[in-house]
Amino acid sequence: MDKIIIRGGNRLHGKVLVSGAKNAALPLICAALLAPGRHRFHNVPSLRDIDTIENLLASLGAQISRGDDLFEIDTTAVDRFEAPYDMVRKMRASVLVLGPLLARFGRARVSLPGGCAIGARPINLHIKGLEAMGAEIELDHGYLNAQAKKLKGARIHLDLPTVGGTENLMMAAALAQGTTVLENAACEPEIVDLARALKSMGAHIEGEGTDTLVIEGVPDLGTLDYRVMPDRIEAGTLMVAAAMTGGDVRIQGMIPQHLKSLIGKLQDAGTEITYEAETVRVRRPRRIEAVDILTLPYPGFPTDMQAQFMALMTLAKGASVITENVFENRFMHVCEMQRLGADITIDGNTAIIKGVKKLLGAPVMATDLRASASLVLCGLAAENTTEVKRIYHLDRGYERLEEKLRRLGADIVRVPE
Ligand code: EPZ
Repeated sequence: MDKIIIRGGNRLHGKVLVSGAKNAALPLICAALLAPGRHRFHNVPSLRDIDTIENLLASLGAQISRGDDLFEIDTTAVDRFEAPYDMVRKMRASVLVLGPLLARFGRARVSLPGGCAIGARPINLHIKGLEAMGAEIELDHGYLNAQAKKLKGARIHLDLPTVGGTENLMMAAALAQGTTVLENAACEPEIVDLARALKSMGAHIEGEGTDTLVIEGVPDLGTLDYRVMPDRIEAGTLMVAAAMTGGDVRIQGMIPQHLKSLIGKLQDAGTEITYEAETVRVRRPRRIEAVDILTLPYPGFPTDMQAQFMALMTLAKGASVITENVFENRFMHVCEMQRLGADITIDGNTAIIKGVKKLLGAPVMATDLRASASLVLCGLAAENTTEVKRIYHLDRGYERLEEKLRRLGADIVRVPE
């Protein structure tokens, strides 16, 4: 296992290019199961989660090759339909094979994901939607055995705007007989991107980006040749890194419209954000002011930026209140930040952060993907040395983050534990 060692205090400056989006690439790769043939993806990030989905699809019989900016997957020979526990446990997004396998092959055996560090994260809404489309799904020793002669279009109202549920059901509906209406659907940019990709395969989808999707099933779909959109959460993390260190950073390749709520909050906190040609410039001219945030489904403040924004608030002038409304246990980073001298009190799903003048470097431990990023951010601003252990969590969702930060002037190295 590796760890990251940071000597804090350097102001970040320079240019950095954002990688392809993990949470767009994962459903897109699963969508390749919907149509036989060779699908080509560009700008797929090199991440542990991408390795996991590659291994899963290869275990189903897909042929995968990865070259320079090319991720190719041929799903013609897929002849197995099981997503085993050890893969789903490692990465919950593996359940996104359920909809495509059912739609194309009429069968799937997918392990229930079980809980994870940030919450219970059930998939009951995925199941409810697929059953409404005619799938028969039974629980068998921790696995879902699902089958359907032919999925049928249905009107489905989602109890909550689940991202993965919307993705699974949109992919399933693309090949169903008849029309599916998905109400209270998620409208994250990754959903819009997946809909665009499915339409390039020949799917009939309307309403992407709104809370109601209308999908008219078609008999079959073509292959994909698709470029993965930039990672808005990596971009947001880099923006916070610039703000935390009082730097002047230009972030290339990001789409500011995908981060309006974060950008608004960063500006409220005193960060200067300007837009040049292909880049977003982030500067912090004076001490950060405390601001409150509520995490909500898109376009609300993204839960995946909650830990990183909390890192920024630990050094703000005043007290800020952060309410986590999406996951029930997404404050695992708090006790590690307290080791660095942060003044944070938790009350249920609310954290009160009283800004301190400085953080003091110390060894800390990553517990989940975004928590690990938030601890790296704290280390960039903390006095002396911070060691972040168990950064395999970080590698799930950030492509060589320590290299990107070092090129921006951070004193940061990755060493074997
Ligand atoms: C996606 O997870 C993202 N992952 C998460 O990013 C992100 O935090 C989340 O959406 C919310 O934006 C990927 O895209 C691969 P949900 P997902 O279904 O689809 C409850 C990261 O850091 N729920 O929208 O699992 C669930 O328990 C990761 O990159 C049900 O109750 O999120 C949660 O409380 C972390 N029943 C809430 O909805 C269901 O059937 C949101 O979950 C489904 C979800």
